[in-house]
Parts: sequence; structure tokens; C-alpha cells
Amino acid sequence: MKNMAIEIIATGRAIPPKRVSNDDLAAQIDTSDEWIRSHTGIGYRHIADESVACSDLAAEAAKNALEMAGCCPLSIDVIVLATATADYYGTPSTACIVQDKISARNAFAMDITAGCTGFVYALETAAGLLSVGPRKRALVIGAEVLSRVTNWDDRGTCVLFGDGAGAVILERTEDKAAGGLLQTLLYADGSGAESLIMRRGGSRSPYKKGETIDTSICIEMNGQEVYNFAVKAITDTLEALLKAGNFSIDDVTRIIPHQANARIVLAASKRLGIPIEKFYLNIEQFANTSSASIPIALDEINRLGQLKKGDLILTVGFGGGLTYGGNIIIW
Ligand code: ACO
Repeated sequence: MKNMAIEIIATGRAIPPKRVSNDDLAAQIDTSDEWIRSHTGIGYRHIADESVACSDLAAEAAKNALEMAGCCPLSIDVIVLATATADYYGTPSTACIVQDKISARNAFAMDITAGCTGFVYALETAAGLLSVGPRKRALVIGAEVLSRVTNWDDRGTCVLFGDGAGAVILERTEDKAAGGLLQTLLYADGSGAESLIMRRGGSRSPYKKGETIDTSICIEMNGQEVYNFAVKAITDTLEALLKAGNFSIDDVTRIIPHQANARIVLAASKRLGIPIEKFYLNIEQFANTSSASIPIALDEINRLGQLKKGDLILTVGFGGGLTYGGNIIIW
């Protein structure tokens, strides 16, 4: 890795046009705009049309990023796609479907399952693949259609999630002075697997012939447990990233956290003594889009022109698995 850098050369996103407000939800279930905003910071979420699957949003975000990079899909060597809501269980991977949709015929393609930390894991996986083989460009995507696995009768979870996709293009350069992905820290704690789970449909508990498919196929969450884990995961990861990079918080331009709940980010910022303004938050508009939330936020600040060359960015993700981790990126 010493003689090369892995740069982010472009970003993209895809947000379904249908926007659902808290008041829209309150018309269907026993909740309120006031409760959702005060407990989560969420105001709206975007919901994909019934005909739209994960690969559709992923391909749109990918095309958006390819357009910014001005590069041809045939120049992509690797596609790594993080999702908890793949088009199909097991096979084919959603990444393969995206490869076909965007005509990236020279790329090999695979999915990553790491809950809401998926994009952080995917960046490191793609960077590793670029650094060891005869490969130059990778397309890294986080894409979710969480509305398909949401129990719309469970007010404890259905107000939290939204649909969307974000993508980046990574490029290997031999320019040692270039910035890029400097370091990644990844963690997992499988003992917490049950706190965020889609119970049915897999090999542990498949549906049997004649059985009615019910809400056990949807996301089930122990909110309090996940909340406590999340605050500790953000805090520990940010401390470890600063230590690993030998940076002080004043060196950091922006922290891009997974957008799960504004209160989680606020609690971590207080615990660490980091001003909340350092954290980029767009959860009010998009809710929790799991593995898509970090790349969507990255694309948003990039297109808003809020990043300049040399800026230091930390990402921090946490979610199902349980998984957590973060990336150090020099823009
Ligand atoms: N509207 C109104 N009332 C509600 C709602 C709602 N949508 N949801 C729960 N309540 C009620 C509960 O029924 C309960 O009422 P009760 O006291 O009469 O029993 C009360 O509000 C408090 O419920 P809690 O679950 O204790 O509420 P809490 O303050 O813990 O907030 C929340 C719940 C927002 C889910 C919180 O626990 C949380 O944010 N957890 C982490 C969630 C998260 O980050 N998940 C994603 C991470 S992983 C991923 O991104 C996939």
C-alpha cells in the first residue's frame, strides 16, 4: 500500500421520489410528528415504488457516480455492494444484477452483508482488492429498500427506515501524494446478533409449504439495546480512528456517521466532547437508510461543494450483526 493511494474520484446517489412525512405515518398508525422528531430527529423518509428493487436504486446511484467521474462502465474492475435488502436471498447477488444493468462487463461483483456498517466494510474490501491485484477502479455501493422488510404495524421500527442508495468510485493511483482511503477499522460482535434481526426466510428458519408469510420476515429490533450499543460503537470507533491516524479532532473536517437516530449521534458527541456541528446529519430528510446512509451523505456534501482537496473525513457505521467501524479518508 505504501507506493499507492486509493482515491474516491466520484460519488452518486439515488433517492426514490415518493416522500412520506411523519404526519403521513401518523394518519396510519398511533404515532406523531412530535414523538418521531423528538426521539429520532427524523422528519421524512423516501419510499421506493413497488416495482423498484435494490438493484434499481443501486444502478441509478452507480450511473450518477460514473457520470461525475466521466468514466466508462467498462473501466470498472470490481463492484462491491452492501445491502441488507438484496433483490434475492442468497443468489444471484445484487451486485451481479447491477453489473448487468450498468453494462460493467469487465467487473467481478459481489455483495456484502454487514448491516448498517455495510458501506464501511465495502470500502475497505474494495480498497483491499484494488491494492493486491491488477485492478484500477472499483464501484462501491450501499443500497437499501428497507420499506420491503418493514413491519408497518410496528411503530417502534416503521418510523425509522427509508429507502435509497449511494455510490462511490474508487481508483488506485501510484501518486503517493494523493489522498484517499487512509485507514479503516472494522469490528463485529455476533453475540448481539438477535438485537436486530430478520428472523424468517433463511436456512435457520425457512418458510414451509402452506405456511403463511407473516411479519417475522421483517426487521425486528430491540431499540434500547441497539441504542446503547450504537452510542458506545460511535464513541469507541471515533476514538480508535483518531488514535490510529494520530489526529486530533481539530484536524478533522467532517464526521459522517450512519444516520440511525440523531439522538445517538448527539449522545456520542457529548460523550466525546466533539461539537455536534462536526457531524454531518441528513436524517431529518432521509431517515435511516442502513448501508446507504453514509454514501448518500458523502454524495450530498460533495455535490454541495463542502469538501476540498486535503480535507480529513471520518466515517462511522454501526448496525446489525452486530457490526461497527469507520474509515479515515483524505479528500
Ligand atoms: N410513536 C409514538 N410512541 C412510540 C413510538 C412511536 N413511533 N415508538 C415507541 N413509542 C412508545 C413506546 O410504546 C413506549 O410507550 P410506553 O412508555 O407507553 O410503553 C414509549 O414510546 C417509549 O418507547 P421506547 O422504545 O423506550 O422509546 P425510546 O426512547 O427508546 O426510543 C427508539 C425508541 C427511537 C427506537 C430508540 O430506542 C432507538 O433509537 N434505538 C436505536 C435504534 C437504531 O438506531 N436502530 C438502527 C441501528 S441499526 C440500523 O440502522 C438498521
